[in-house]
Amino acid sequence: MTTEAVRRAARVKWYTEARFGLSLHYGLYSLIGRGEWVRSIEQMEEGEYMRYFNEFSPKEGCAREWARAAREAGARYVVLTAKHHDGFCLFDSALTDYKSTNTPAKRDIVGEYVEAVRGEGLRVGLYYSLVDWHHPDYPAYGDRQHPLRHKAEARERDKGCVWERYVEYMHGQVRELCTQYGRIDVLVFDFSYWEYYGEKWRATELMRLIRELQPEVVVNDRLGREAIKEVERPGYAGDYDQAEMDIPREQVRNKGGEVIPWESWFPISNSWAYNPSDQEYKEAGTIIRALVNCVSKGGNLLLNVAPGPWGELDGRTWATLREIGEWLGVNGESVYGCGPAALGKPEWGRWTQKGGYLYAHIMEPVIGHISLEGLRGKVKSAYVLATRRPAILCDYWNPGIQTFDGPSDIFLNFGRPVQYTWALPDGRDTVVRLEYTTEEECARLLEEYREEFARATARVPFP
Ligand code: GLC
Repeated sequence: MTTEAVRRAARVKWYTEARFGLSLHYGLYSLIGRGEWVRSIEQMEEGEYMRYFNEFSPKEGCAREWARAAREAGARYVVLTAKHHDGFCLFDSALTDYKSTNTPAKRDIVGEYVEAVRGEGLRVGLYYSLVDWHHPDYPAYGDRQHPLRHKAEARERDKGCVWERYVEYMHGQVRELCTQYGRIDVLVFDFSYWEYYGEKWRATELMRLIRELQPEVVVNDRLGREAIKEVERPGYAGDYDQAEMDIPREQVRNKGGEVIPWESWFPISNSWAYNPSDQEYKEAGTIIRALVNCVSKGGNLLLNVAPGPWGELDGRTWATLREIGEWLGVNGESVYGCGPAALGKPEWGRWTQKGGYLYAHIMEPVIGHISLEGLRGKVKSAYVLATRRPAILCDYWNPGIQTFDGPSDIFLNFGRPVQYTWALPDGRDTVVRLEYTTEEECARLLEEYREEFARATARVPFP
């Protein structure tokens, strides 16, 4: 490994162990309630959007509410939009007037947030948009998403754009974020498109600056476009691959076949920022299974929530976060610090593993006993993680008469007789902890499975 690869591995260690984070999209757009792209989608003029600048006044303590929500959900890191594409800054930047300290709020929201998140013992992340719809040096006309992209006047405006000035500004703000809030654990850049990627952002230099100011910070991969997949990666490639509204089918690898850290990022509804017309909230169970899906493939989940106009989280969001947190409270051992097991995807759910422990995440009710392929003689002491109630390991119940098992399979169930169908203790995901065992113990285990099987058949009234 190169020294950079060694450093990178050390940097991402906490991050890949954390597995679950919470992000928040909050800004002027939260007062409108039609998502964070509203200015772009509705091609809104700057003047019209200013109304919300003049009304921006999040309630006192909202950052503490966000941090508490993250902790109660069982998240280990939090990410807040310090600046989104609209260019509005939630921090007291010396480089612009377009910031929360100049609104009626007169507060540095990033400062409040950093303190609150640290206060809850969580890692601090900041999102910073590379795209900027407010800065006069960011070209508008004909851009992919600038609110003024179709406006004839924008052509004139653009003649005055000096790209280098924007890049200086952007680097300057990243410097501010990296120097004024103590240790930052995660930096999320958003996003690269067209020719706007890599050196267009002077990304190598930017990354060097970040490493100098925050040597430990974990950075996402959006300064580039899939540069993280290169074997000879540019300096700006970032530390992890960030998948948006998607979960990859398997562990993510670079072009050389090497496994790389990754994160799936999706919102609790279909909207990143406050949008009451979108009530398509995901159930806690769906999010729990998505989280386990990610972990089973070596990835993280960053779940996004959308505070309302005054920074408040709605009841539905709170309830879902609490439910996830309750589940993690008793099942967290199978998520935090876990990764993939060297076993195929089972029919009933997913595997995660940590050291000598295997976690069967049973997500689909099955008929009869649950097959554990390839684990014959390899595991012992199965129990339901949430309740510590033992689960039963046994041989196939009906050999010789019908044979659906393989020579290396064993079976699991929650009650006796083992061939019956017993309800899953947790319909969202029942986690069973299995302990890998030694070769020496294997013979004794096989004996135990057989005894269990004998007990099962003894109870069956054969005609
Ligand atoms: C997209 C959107 C942005 C959102 C982000 C989250 O890049 O532009 O609004 O913040 O996705 O991944």
